Amino acid sequence: METNRYQIPEKTAGYIQIEEQYGAHNYHPLPVVLNKGQGPFVWDVEGKRYYDFLSGYSAVNQGHCHPKIVEALTTQAKKLTLTSRAFHSDKMAEYTQYITRYFDYDKVLPMNTGVEAVETALKLARKWGYIVKGVPDEQAKIVTVEGNFHGRTINVISFSTDPTARAGFGPFMPGYVTIPYNDLNALRDAFADENVVGLLIEPIQGEAGVFVPDDGYLAAAKALCEEHRVLFIGDEIQTGLSRTGKLLACDHENVRPDILILGKALSGGVMPISAILADDEIMLTIAPGEHGSTYGGNPLACAVAIASLEVLKEEKLAERAAELGIYFRSALNTLTHPAIKQVRGKGLLNAIVIDHPKDNAADILCLELLKNGLLAKPTHGDKIRFAPPLVISKEELEDAIRIIQKSLAVLDESK
Ligand SMILES: Cc1ncc(COP(=O)(O)O)c(C=O)c1O
Repeated sequence: METNRYQIPEKTAGYIQIEEQYGAHNYHPLPVVLNKGQGPFVWDVEGKRYYDFLSGYSAVNQGHCHPKIVEALTTQAKKLTLTSRAFHSDKMAEYTQYITRYFDYDKVLPMNTGVEAVETALKLARKWGYIVKGVPDEQAKIVTVEGNFHGRTINVISFSTDPTARAGFGPFMPGYVTIPYNDLNALRDAFADENVVGLLIEPIQGEAGVFVPDDGYLAAAKALCEEHRVLFIGDEIQTGLSRTGKLLACDHENVRPDILILGKALSGGVMPISAILADDEIMLTIAPGEHGSTYGGNPLACAVAIASLEVLKEEKLAERAAELGIYFRSALNTLTHPAIKQVRGKGLLNAIVIDHPKDNAADILCLELLKNGLLAKPTHGDKIRFAPPLVISKEELEDAIRIIQKSLAVLDESK
């Protein structure tokens, strides 16, 4: 097996062949098979070490297999893992108090995956719209923006603007209005409709290739939400939990979402844990029996989430991401390679935009990075996200930058 000058080792090829035969083809992974992780590193089945610059799409902010999180997991796993919400658990009590104080909201509603939390937020916004805002039955609308990524359910792809995410999956759900991102006039126009109950928004669009809106956009959007009695629903699944250099990306503009959506790093990459947070006026519009999940808020998840949140504070990971992010972007900017059209991001959520005559230049570069010991994945063809675990040290980051610099040679015009 040979992919663009990269000879896939035999053992690796064997695993890939088995997975391709028996697993659905809904992803297109890089040709590497991992079996170990620690801090900012992962290892493949050949024993080769890599910098992980994807971090499970920003789920592994605390670093792979963080000892404190693993300890919380194993201790709780030996005691009690699942009660369902038919009964209370001591860990659920501890977690609800801990996370609501941590983020300063009245209530939390725990779920599992990111998209489930998004679905929960959308249901809650509609409920609030009918019960509190007084929108006529079945008329609630939620505003979403172009380039969004909020997950893969039929409801959520109903307002995706990515043709690949939607093709062949219709019919779609009504009740959504999609406007351009980073466009306050479009937002003002959309809010003229009194049936709008929510604005679902990523403070930085991660999957779209780390698209950072103009300074002031989020604060102005929040002000418009307040003016029109529309809930600001902040999807911080990828941007939250210290990734962008603040606890939440919305904190950069002092915006407090009415509904905050968290996932990914809420477990440090250990298990699927998500949550939404809101105040009583919103959260208490959902009554018993109206929403739930068998695993949502299970004792194991509660123990893991508390430990994951503690690590963010104890290790000052937001401050670290802010400082290392500035260093990283300025180092990438000094590379001045002609194939790098743009370097963008906040904290340690960054991307480069590739400009090269070859359509698959981003793929070629990612394979070269893999060869040289760094894992990153292209998104939307010409963008490569660089989002290492936030526990990476300055020296390791410098080493990673050297790998990026060396790998860029593969895109030199003569090659
Ligand atoms: C902003 C955002 N929302 C929602 C999701 C969906 O999360 P999950 O894959 O856990 O369902 C993602 C995943 O990448 C995301 O980045």
